[in-house]
Amino acid sequence: MTSTAAPPPIALSHLLAHTAEMVQGVRDGRSLTDLLARVPANARAGTQALAFDVMRRLGAAQAVRSLVAVKTPPPAVDALLVSAIALLWPPLPSARAAYPDHTLVDQAVHAARQRTPAAAGFVNAVLRRFVRERVALVTSAEHQPVAAFNHPLWWIERLQHDWPAHWQALLHEANRHPPMTLRVNARHTTAAAYVQRLAAQGQAARAIGGQAVVLAQPCPVVQLPGFAEGEVSVQDAAAQRAAPLLLGAGLPANARVLDACAAPGGKTAHLLELAELELFALDSDPQRLSRVQHTLTRLRLTARVQAGDAGQPAAWWDGQPFDAILLDAPCSASGIVRRHPDIRWLRRPDDVAALARIQARILDALWPLVARGGRLLYATCSVFPAEGRDQIDAFLQRLGAGAAHLDPGSPGHLLPLPDNAEAGAAHAQDVADGFFYALIHKP
Ligand SMILES: C[S@@+](CC[C@H](N)C(=O)[O-])C[C@H]1O[C@@H](n2cnc3c(N)ncnc32)[C@H](O)[C@@H]1O
Repeated sequence: MTSTAAPPPIALSHLLAHTAEMVQGVRDGRSLTDLLARVPANARAGTQALAFDVMRRLGAAQAVRSLVAVKTPPPAVDALLVSAIALLWPPLPSARAAYPDHTLVDQAVHAARQRTPAAAGFVNAVLRRFVRERVALVTSAEHQPVAAFNHPLWWIERLQHDWPAHWQALLHEANRHPPMTLRVNARHTTAAAYVQRLAAQGQAARAIGGQAVVLAQPCPVVQLPGFAEGEVSVQDAAAQRAAPLLLGAGLPANARVLDACAAPGGKTAHLLELAELELFALDSDPQRLSRVQHTLTRLRLTARVQAGDAGQPAAWWDGQPFDAILLDAPCSASGIVRRHPDIRWLRRPDDVAALARIQARILDALWPLVARGGRLLYATCSVFPAEGRDQIDAFLQRLGAGAAHLDPGSPGHLLPLPDNAEAGAAHAQDVADGFFYALIHKP
């Protein structure tokens, strides 16, 4: 007889131990995406939920740990301590389930006994002191900007400089939980019809544009009607601006289009859902590129998919100009920190300039491939003007007067803020990711 009993729940102490490993890994420069892939499948979702919350409180937790224990403990002990302190922090308004203090402290001490037994008493003492003196310690820690905003100082200062009127709101928004947004496949349905379909199975959602639907509660994709059949995909509303912008009022039938940094393929698929195109999807990362093929197969769409460096067309270009090019360039990802809360702790101050140099190299290499009368859409999921407005200003200057013109309908920087009407957010919880778009025409 087969048993249908649910698997036993994972003990919180195990999840805390994995979360501490995640913190230690991020501190060593590895991304949460890579680290989580190595967590046993049955503990992955629980660890991800805790690790994401810890990343959103890491600056504050580090500040409190150094107030309570002046000497830095060994890395494994410190990672467990800051994880527990972050989870004991007074919850964010958007926070999910919190654990009672005594449960969290007991389970963290249990995790310490398993991982670093000699430090279990120390972990117990630090966490109990934090719980006892929480209000005073939180107040004291939050005098430091890194603790108050939970971002590195260089990042805070960069936003202060770049967005003097918005920097605090941007930092605040970056610590919130993002909405789960879907893109309905325009070949099959509309956002309004899909909202009805979700409602019929008890899922609340709102349509916020032609193809965008925001779920009231995130859910696994297998619970989305028609997902396996390619009727819907997960994609942020700001990312959904790319395909309609590039296609504009229309392209010739079977226009030649290059998606130059295509993986994992969200925008490639959207383009093909909206138009019949001869689409060439390129990316320098063969592993990520396999996800483009996987997505296209699910959506029953076709493109030529190839690995290559967009900055070196000689290696892959057949010499035929493209009617349109999408350059969704590698960037700091500072506009999607809500979705990848480890990014802020992984980036280094020099990374933005280094990425801007790569973006400029790819822009310069691709522009000659645009046909006369054609267009190039430059996009980054960054809020830093060095990767957006300043990058495009410099590019247009290099091209010289008359060689190109910026479309007056180019959105420019879309900031992930509740009052950003341009980004289409009707409700505070609908806030879309931070993006930059510049549509450039070749006369
Ligand atoms: C922002 S992501 C693209 C997201 C994708 N357009 C989508 O919507 O799913 C940037 C991509 O650029 C790729 N990349 C980085 N450097 C590249 C280069 N020199 N040539 C081509 N692709 C590159 C990365 O592998 C990454 O997949």
